Amino acid sequence: MKTNNLQACVVGIGLIGPIHIEALRRIGINVIAVVSRNENKVSEFARSINAKYSFTNINEALKQEDIDVMHICVPDEYHYEYVKLSLIAGKHVVCEKPLAVNSKQSKELVSISKEVNKVCVVCYNLRYYPLVHHVKSEIKSNIIALHGGFLQDWLLYKNDWSWRIEQNSGSGLRAIPDIGSHWFDMVSFMTGLEVEYVFADLLIHHKTRHKPKGIIKTFSKTDDANKEYEEVNIKTEDFGSVLIRFKNGAKGVCIVSQVSAGRKCRLNFEIDTEEESFSWTSEDPNNMLIGKRNEPNKIITRDPSIMSNEANNITSYPGGHAEGYPDTFKHFFKAVYSYISENDYNAKKSFPTFEDGHKSLLICDAILKSATEERWVSIKEVEDSLEGDTL
Ligand SMILES: NC(=O)c1ccc[n+]([C@@H]2O[C@H](COP(=O)([O-])OP(=O)(O)OC[C@H]3O[C@@H](n4cnc5c(N)ncnc54)[C@H](O)[C@@H]3O)[C@@H](O)[C@H]2O)c1
Repeated sequence: MKTNNLQACVVGIGLIGPIHIEALRRIGINVIAVVSRNENKVSEFARSINAKYSFTNINEALKQEDIDVMHICVPDEYHYEYVKLSLIAGKHVVCEKPLAVNSKQSKELVSISKEVNKVCVVCYNLRYYPLVHHVKSEIKSNIIALHGGFLQDWLLYKNDWSWRIEQNSGSGLRAIPDIGSHWFDMVSFMTGLEVEYVFADLLIHHKTRHKPKGIIKTFSKTDDANKEYEEVNIKTEDFGSVLIRFKNGAKGVCIVSQVSAGRKCRLNFEIDTEEESFSWTSEDPNNMLIGKRNEPNKIITRDPSIMSNEANNITSYPGGHAEGYPDTFKHFFKAVYSYISENDYNAKKSFPTFEDGHKSLLICDAILKSATEERWVSIKEVEDSLEGDTL
């Protein structure tokens, strides 16, 4: 892989920042800087990975000329500001999903990205499971329907807590952009289908939650008995069901939940075509069921000797040697850093860009509008509402 000695800075060292760092180091990218709010923690962390710099303020990192790429791995409400600052400072950007907290912000980021000659990426890494790439070339007849969703259980109890629950950003949503947006991105990547209308029904199961006094790590277990807490009102959904009409006439449904006991992190899809169906889940990412009507069903196992070239480009191990979540980041970043090294930023991009991030936020905003007004809402309606709107 050609990378021209590109050097990275990772902003945010909670759950996902270290996952970015691990993947970058696996592909030989030098992470020379980390940024986080707590001075002791960030300097200790920088020492542990031999990073040259540690900062508590992103602006300090942005002054360093030897940093080429900024990875934005902080809570969603800071994405818009940090991406903007990074692009103005002349850096390439890999921003965690969702790109911003609403489509008004993401529209502006897309327009800034067109003015700067930089590579602007949004982190929909789950596309990079090899069988997800494989299915793209396997769909040979019209799609009738598409269904599935993304289920988790880590916010099931009243005392489960994350910054995601308390939206200071004004997004108005939680589970949908946090995990549902991965589903919408994956489905559109595989099928090329575009969402035209949505009809959403959202549930706030816990109308109040116990917010611990102190810092809570993502996916950590919270325990009221040992923690002081305050009772806070909750305004974002624990569960959502979304009916979908795609532009080609296909119909779909997506279920998103952070309160489904036992489902740790289950993204799944079923694609029903006129000839066969394709069914996959992230809980068993190395196998995919191909459903048949008139002959026995097939299971395809991730194996470079039988997959498409596109899938083989993002797999490193022989069949039977399982690949999983950390490998999605590895292959994703390989594609991004190779592209940056080539220096032709008009060339076709194989990875998710700010345009994809914006598309995803248009869907989120349509879902919120639909749930609030209890009606079908088109993506175009949301797009039209942004015309002439400035932040
Ligand atoms: N692609 C994926 O699979 C995936 C998985 C998890 C999270 N994410 C995304 O990653 C982002 C971070 O989520 P997380 O779970 O790692 O959160 P986290 O709470 O575990 O970590 C956030 C980190 O950012 C730091 N931070 C917070 N505010 C900051 C600020 N203003 N400036 C600098 N640092 C700040 C915190 O100290 C912490 O180190 C979110 O946007 C989330 O949606 C993506």
